Amino acid sequence: MQNADQTGELNENIPQHIAIIMDGNGRWAQKRHLPRIAGHKEGMNTVKKITMSANDLGVKVLTLYAFSTENWKRPSGEVSFLMHLPGDFFDTFVPDLIKANVRVNVMGYVDRLPDYTQKAVREAIADTAQCTGMVLNFALNYGGRAEIVTAVQNIATQVAKNELDPAKITDRTVDEALMTSGLAPYSDPDLLIRTSGEQRISNFLLWQIAYSELVFTDQLWPDFSDAELKKCVYQYQQRNRRFGGLK
Ligand code: IPE
Ligand code: IPE
Ligand code: MG
Repeated sequence: MQNADQTGELNENIPQHIAIIMDGNGRWAQKRHLPRIAGHKEGMNTVKKITMSANDLGVKVLTLYAFSTENWKRPSGEVSFLMHLPGDFFDTFVPDLIKANVRVNVMGYVDRLPDYTQKAVREAIADTAQCTGMVLNFALNYGGRAEIVTAVQNIATQVAKNELDPAKITDRTVDEALMTSGLAPYSDPDLLIRTSGEQRISNFLLWQIAYSELVFTDQLWPDFSDAELKKCVYQYQQRNRRFGGLK
């Protein structure tokens, strides 16, 4: 199993967009003989810590995978707890976000969330709309394949209406049809981190990670720390990003 073990001084090359698959809340709780939701609650505190750490590092966009389009398969009690978390999180954390000049963004099928979750999300977005620093981008009811399907539907509709020539469809057309388009010029993550030792993507940002650097750490999300984030960034800084060319 890969660990972000090796570490050292960070240089100036801070990834501008970091995306994190926050995994391992349930296992964290189970290890302590607690219900899984205790892990989600503790994970929320990690979100607060890591948001501030990323902001301090000078990251421009921090994308956090909070709930996938497949997570509805979980027991209804757990889903319900997760749906109440945004309200709890933003109620206590929005003042700190404003102080830190962090703007909240949410990508995903928000209109399919319970009304109270939608309300919490909309208020946090509105309350931080004037912030000009880091974007804290939550992927909530997000799935990479669903996102691509929606994008294809939108592009096909433009073609059907004779507004778009299929021969003129480029990477950019697709970029602009995805949920990350509003994050430009930082739409694609430079660094993707997954906690909990799982080495898979689980339907996260499929198009956008084409050239992201991937770092997997065994730490469970509630244990993930500022020091571990820095180790992941250190690993990123040791990589040689070639984008298919030579260096
Ligand atoms: C990640 O932790 C949080 C969500 C997916 C909502 P998990 O709940 O997946 O925790 P594990 O993987 O079961 O330990
Ligand atoms: C991915 O974690 C989704 C989030 C972190 C929100 P999962 O725990 O749902 O992924 P799998 O089921 O292990 O692939
Ligand atoms: Mg999991």
